[in-house]
Amino acid sequence: MNILVVGGGGREHAVIKALSRSEKVSKIYCAPGNGGISRLAECFPVKATDIDGMVELAEKLKPDYVFVTPDDPLVMGMVDRLNEKGFRTFGPRADAAVLEGSKVFSKGLMKKYGIPTAAYETFTDAEKAIAYIKEQGRYPAVIKCDGLALGKGVIIAQNEQEAVDAVNSMLIGGKFGKSGSEIVIEEFMTGPEVTVLAFTDGKTVKPMVSSMDHKRAYDGDKGLNTGGMGTIAPNPLYTKKYADECMEKIFLPTIKAMQAEGRPFKGCLYFGLMLTPDGAKVVEYNCRFGDPEAQVVLPLLKTDLADIIEAVYEERLDSLDIEWADESCACVVMASGGYPEKYPTGLPISGFDADGQLPDGKAYVYHAGTKLDGGTFLTAGGRVLGVTATAPTLKAALDKAYSAVGEISFENAHFRKDIGQRALAGEDR
Ligand code: AMP
Ligand code: GLY
Repeated sequence: MNILVVGGGGREHAVIKALSRSEKVSKIYCAPGNGGISRLAECFPVKATDIDGMVELAEKLKPDYVFVTPDDPLVMGMVDRLNEKGFRTFGPRADAAVLEGSKVFSKGLMKKYGIPTAAYETFTDAEKAIAYIKEQGRYPAVIKCDGLALGKGVIIAQNEQEAVDAVNSMLIGGKFGKSGSEIVIEEFMTGPEVTVLAFTDGKTVKPMVSSMDHKRAYDGDKGLNTGGMGTIAPNPLYTKKYADECMEKIFLPTIKAMQAEGRPFKGCLYFGLMLTPDGAKVVEYNCRFGDPEAQVVLPLLKTDLADIIEAVYEERLDSLDIEWADESCACVVMASGGYPEKYPTGLPISGFDADGQLPDGKAYVYHAGTKLDGGTFLTAGGRVLGVTATAPTLKAALDKAYSAVGEISFENAHFRKDIGQRALAGEDR
């Protein structure tokens, strides 16, 4: 099987690493890829959002499957276009990717089908939104723009002034462009967060092992929101009781709701959950693998990912047993100093062998923002590397990952030192 993977971050590197373990997969292509990915896959300089360019590339390479990994091309309808041209794909069509592409849509779906989530209202008019916030008088207030915003479209306002500023910046200031021309104002929920990724063929849903992201830039969950500074899997707070409750009240109802709406979801569905005092509730859906959740979940997958891709496409996921290793995995993201704001690129990374890996092979390094220049790996983005290790316990996985981080350096590298600490404390409880 030949597979073309669309995207070029740490998550795509994790997908490609998993595919490279498959006995069925003979050739992996990636567009655009990155420095580390280029050691496993043949890379082509086509942007992930360039639908015409990607269709053209697929016509040239004739892959058996195109795996569309990032949110924007999915929401823009890349899968629809590839299917029209006769290509088999992994990833939802645009009418299902809207689950991530529009919060107004996803909140409406949850309301209609009784799927637990924060209470909310939607607004296009700033005055009405502000009147609602004042009438509620409850803080923090959560204000979200409708569309995609690189994970930055959610503002947790601590008081009335912050809430008013957030509404004005989106509805009047046009901070997020069209994505912010409609907003959702919702109830603030409390509790630990869990990510559950699930394979689904539109009818059957098979959750993967759970995980926990660390979204803030600095230790102790301080600083700005980022794409994710580290992950662990499984998430020890997500017990069997929660898994059963979520299957019954969230996962199956979501898949059935999308089917009933005539928008069957095929691919990987990301459930962002909060374990609130009233039970598990949905914070958000994403229409794809999480980044850096994929980096800790896929190493634990024992079943051949190529078999899963085929079963999802052919809608026979019910007959496939998906197995997971009974181990833990931890990923520590090394980011450019200054991320998620301004940061330099083009800095040489030291500690690597010719594949951009550690010579002792104790940990696996997923490349996010790197490029290969001659024989040297250079930084090329905000999140640069996801240093990942698997071990029998979470503590041992974290120790291995952090020890590997100590062997890699580039100027002003920033990483959190407390990845997994809250989970470890919870595990001990
Ligand atoms: P989202 O992009 O919707 O996942 O939101 C980003 C982050 O904001 C989430 O991971 C939560 O930490 C936080 N968040 C979003 N919605 C809520 C809510 N209703 N209550 C509390 N925190 C929230
Ligand atoms: N790590 C969060 C996301 O992929 O959206």
